[in-house]
Amino acid sequence: MGDDRKHDSSMRPVSRSPRPRPVGKLAMRRRMGWAAGGALSGLLMLFFMAPEQKHLRAPGKMNVGHEALDCESCHTPAPGTTRQQLQANVRYLLGLRKQPADFGNRDVTNADCLACHERPFDRHPVFRFNEPRFEQARRNVGAHRCESCHDEHKGVKVTAKATYCAECHADLQLERDPIDVPHAELVAGKQWQTCLGCHDFHGNHERSTPTRLSEAIDVERINEYFAGSPSPYGERLTSPPRKTRKDAD
Ligand code: HEC
Ligand code: HEC
Ligand code: HEC
Ligand code: HEC
Ligand code: HEC
Repeated sequence: MGDDRKHDSSMRPVSRSPRPRPVGKLAMRRRMGWAAGGALSGLLMLFFMAPEQKHLRAPGKMNVGHEALDCESCHTPAPGTTRQQLQANVRYLLGLRKQPADFGNRDVTNADCLACHERPFDRHPVFRFNEPRFEQARRNVGAHRCESCHDEHKGVKVTAKATYCAECHADLQLERDPIDVPHAELVAGKQWQTCLGCHDFHGNHERSTPTRLSEAIDVERINEYFAGSPSPYGERLTSPPRKTRKDAD
């Protein structure tokens, strides 16, 4: 009897303290039931995220420059048949698999962007920033992923702040500095809004770098470019974008 009282939860206050769970057959079956119910509602959610539904609701306006692209140029099918994806996700929901499987479409990756925007001379190639020393920069600006600065379906071109150079160039000093207000002085004065005035980020525009601060492009114009206006760095690109993915031809 004394033992029974220990398990009688009706005597307990509402707050639940941890206690040993009964693991009889019934309890086991009940737990399996919960797991199956969870799996089912999970699958329903996945179903509504499936490719056919996706086409009905793009989350926002295409970014400027991407208006003419097919959805499939970035959203490519996930590996495996629908059935394999389903099975993998059921296993995940039942705790038998560590990661959920992409369902319908894979996540959009750097490789998807680079399939049209390959730039062999990119001065800030995303892959570089996987190195351990950029851990903080990855966390703060996500410099290792195109999406961090070019979030898609936002109706713009660039979604980063124009001052993010601070994250990696805070120790910047040039031995023989060619500009009239030296870099060290700009950095000391936290003039981070000036950087993109003289340098494009990827270095893909064919142009010469100004040496006088008065020639720098205004940060307002940079922000207009981010929002969708033509490039203030000019139209000549070393590596122009492709209209179709490289792996598609
Ligand atoms: C230039 C590349 C690109 C094109 C073209 C594109 N998308 Fe996306 N889309 C993205 C990126 C990047 C995301 C962010 C989430 C991710 O990585 O899947 C996204 C997210 C989504 C999402 C949110 C669900 C999710 O997977 O996170 C939907 C829905 C979507 N896109 C639908 C569409 C539709 C519909 C079209 C065609 C009208 C389209 N997209 C065209 C790049 C693109
Ligand atoms: C199917 C090819 C294709 C894919 C895939 C693609 N783009 Fe583009 N993108 C283009 C084209 C073409 C343009 C330029 C259109 C124009 O000249 O106005 C463009 C324009 C842009 C621009 C604006 C450039 C400017 O200065 O006007 C940015 C930024 C951009 N893409 C980033 C991305 C990112 C990030 C991804 C991956 C999420 C991506 N693109 C995927 C073809 C593609
Ligand atoms: C840390 C932020 C950041 C990341 C990460 C980033 N970009 Fe950019 N991107 C910018 C900024 C800022 C500009 C505007 C300055 C310029 O034109 O370089 C830009 C411009 C562009 C342009 C237009 C000029 C050009 O080079 O043709 C394209 C296209 C583009 N980015 C594509 C990409 C792709 C693809 C990736 C991933 C491989 C990527 N970006 C990663 C910040 C970023
Ligand atoms: C995630 C870190 C990171 C961010 C953010 C970053 N840079 Fe850099 N940048 C680097 C690294 C690393 C180099 C290469 C330096 C080297 O090779 O010694 C570099 C090089 C450069 C160069 C010289 C390139 C060359 O070819 O000589 C310029 C100019 C430059 N960055 C400007 C900028 C500007 C402007 C911004 C902001 C829009 C910026 N950077 C943001 C890491 C970064
Ligand atoms: C008035 C124009 C101007 C401004 C503003 C400017 N730079 Fe520069 N920067 C230059 C010139 C010119 C060079 C010499 C190399 C070249 O021609 O690209 C240079 C070189 C660099 C280099 C290469 C250093 C090396 O060791 O080779 C980096 C990195 C750099 N700048 C980052 C920045 C950052 C970050 C900012 C913002 C604080 C900034 N610049 C502001 C004009 C400018």
